[in-house]
Amino acid sequence: MRKFVPPFVACLLCMTPPSELSAQQVIRPEPLALPPTEFPLSSSVIDGHVAANDIAALRAHAWKLWAGITARSTQSYQGQSLPISETWLSEAEAFSTLAAPAAAGEERILRPFSPLRQLRHEFLNAPQGLSLQLATNADRTRLLAFVKLSPDAATFVAAQHPMPDNSGDTVRYNRRADLLKLNTAFDKSGAKIADRKILDFPAAAVDLKIVFLPVKAKGLTAIPVWDGPGSSSNPQSPTVDTWTKCVAVDPTNNGSGQTKVDCNGTQIDAQVVGLDRFYAIQLDTARAAAVSASLGLSGPAALEAGDYQVAVAMHVTTKEIANWTWQTFWWQDGKNPPNKFPGSIDDMPDSNAVIGPWRNYAMCIADSIVVPANDRNGKPIVCFNPYLEPGLSDGISSNCMSCHARATVPGVPYPSTYHPNGWIDPADQLFAGQTKTDFVWAVQNSAR
Ligand code: HEC
Repeated sequence: MRKFVPPFVACLLCMTPPSELSAQQVIRPEPLALPPTEFPLSSSVIDGHVAANDIAALRAHAWKLWAGITARSTQSYQGQSLPISETWLSEAEAFSTLAAPAAAGEERILRPFSPLRQLRHEFLNAPQGLSLQLATNADRTRLLAFVKLSPDAATFVAAQHPMPDNSGDTVRYNRRADLLKLNTAFDKSGAKIADRKILDFPAAAVDLKIVFLPVKAKGLTAIPVWDGPGSSSNPQSPTVDTWTKCVAVDPTNNGSGQTKVDCNGTQIDAQVVGLDRFYAIQLDTARAAAVSASLGLSGPAALEAGDYQVAVAMHVTTKEIANWTWQTFWWQDGKNPPNKFPGSIDDMPDSNAVIGPWRNYAMCIADSIVVPANDRNGKPIVCFNPYLEPGLSDGISSNCMSCHARATVPGVPYPSTYHPNGWIDPADQLFAGQTKTDFVWAVQNSAR
């Protein structure tokens, strides 16, 4: 016998986008299927590589992570096999105030494409002129992103952690009020600045941010390709909307040769490449409308069912070492960027490890701020994602850790002394009255 569904519930169901409905039934977060000899590596091994500045070993590890993150999971969604990392809880889910949303089979929010928030911190505290410029750039780039947390990271965020005062009281890192309570406890106990922090995430914690651009199902779509700061109409701040090189993406995968396209407002000759050279997500009607709304696209520019979001960039961090490992990947059509800046495809493992379109992404790493790693006057390591960081002031000299080390609750404004690749001391006065959130901005931004 069919279960009785009250009319108002039935109606709620009809308004829910079909994508969300099917997701809620099936998708279960899967851990990385890498052998223990590859992940998580013991911190002493990675710390040894960092101390020796063994770039080859650190890059080899970063490619293994890439292989693991992009490997096929056991699950499919809307007819497409899901990469392992797409089964993970999104930031919205991991910080949901519902108890264990995925485990309980509650509604999944698998792919919450959202405008990039990364630039907001910078422009909130920047001089007025800069703020306006960055805000406009962010709108023009058409980039949308979502953040994912591995099962270990998400479980940690939702868990009850003991308060440092041994009161028996607990704190959850997905609750803003709990984090503020923790901060007050540090005030009361007079904790040293260096010790004002949440507990460390577990070694198998992985956080990632995956970033997309739209491609139409009909005709050719221009996608900007990083070609160094010189191939930008603004070499000092070469955001993606200023790049002068594009490819023309052909959704039929049949085209070849060169064609004229509008690349950021200029007609250029562009290489035609198949959609199959990207990781692409096809949009249903509801999702296409949501993406168009996020991007402010209307009329003929709006996306329709059948159009795509293609992955152009992915930031990846793992808690295998105390300060996390940091690597970033971006679409480079399987080639090296000019001068291998800021990274390369050199040393990518073969197609048994890194599969399909994921082979077209180049990578750089920054597993410390400076070299030597413990020398605050050492030489800064520069690693940024061309699709992401150039919008920040000095973004093309930036280092992931210099910025992420500043994630705190209640939150400090970006200091005017911010150095994009400068040494950050966890005992710095900057962190007085703050609780560091173990390099994770999502804890600062999304705890509710
Ligand atoms: C100038 C600051 C800045 C730099 C540099 C930076 N990030 Fe971030 N990152 C942020 C902010 C702010 C967020 C949260 C907002 C968002 O998700 O866009 C974030 C989010 C993330 C996340 C999602 C988890 C989290 O912490 O919330 C990952 C993973 C990440 N960044 C990795 C990287 C990597 C890898 C690099 C270097 C290649 C890097 N970031 C460089 C500021 C920065």
